[in-house]
Amino acid sequence: MDKSFNYIISPEISEFRRFSPKLKIGVLASGNGTNFQELINLSEKEELDIDIKVLITNKDDAGCIKRAESVKIPHKIIRSEDFSQKDLFELEIINTLNNFDVELIVMAGWMKIVTPFFINKFKNKIINIHPSLLPSYKGGSAIKDAILNGSKITGCSVHFVEEEVDSGSLIMQAALSIRDDDNIESLSKRIHILEHKILPHSISHAGFLIRSNFKENY
Ligand code: GAR
Repeated sequence: MDKSFNYIISPEISEFRRFSPKLKIGVLASGNGTNFQELINLSEKEELDIDIKVLITNKDDAGCIKRAESVKIPHKIIRSEDFSQKDLFELEIINTLNNFDVELIVMAGWMKIVTPFFINKFKNKIINIHPSLLPSYKGGSAIKDAILNGSKITGCSVHFVEEEVDSGSLIMQAALSIRDDDNIESLSKRIHILEHKILPHSISHAGFLIRSNFKENY
């Protein structure tokens, strides 16, 4: 994989905050789960003081499931199709997260829009990673949209989840150039490398705010 490219990360990366006891997180993911894997790796190496209590996915065949199984992180598949109303689907997720007593919810490739009902249950405790420099290219096809638009720079963002989709206070962003010969796959690979850098640091920062009840002043 191409790791040699120029990028900017802001705020600049510093050391992870230490959490004792470890920060209890729940991960929501719909896909392959490479971001989730990075969290597993950092946790196993004891570089990031997180305790991944549960993985929730909405897809039977999501790659993240195997990643959870391989390190015995509990996982639960909650399919929206199994519920007559979105509230009931979200209630199942809420109950699961509460059962695991998580302090921070990390959307790492979660491809379902969450409603105010869900967000208000975990105010200022949900963060999301998105593959663009928000507020540019919100929505489900951010990488493709940046290429189609002829953008020269794009990146990824981690933000607190608030009611408007892909909005909410930014925690961290990384920017990189789009090359003339980039396609969705090549650009996605480089964005993923940056996502794996900013998501753990954003967790560290959000965890610090949550533990110090600091979000009100953020
Ligand atoms: C990541 O690129 C993330 O930014 C994106 O899904 C991918 C998941 O990758 N999230 C969204 O598009 C949310 N709107 P992963 O499964 O390899 O971690």
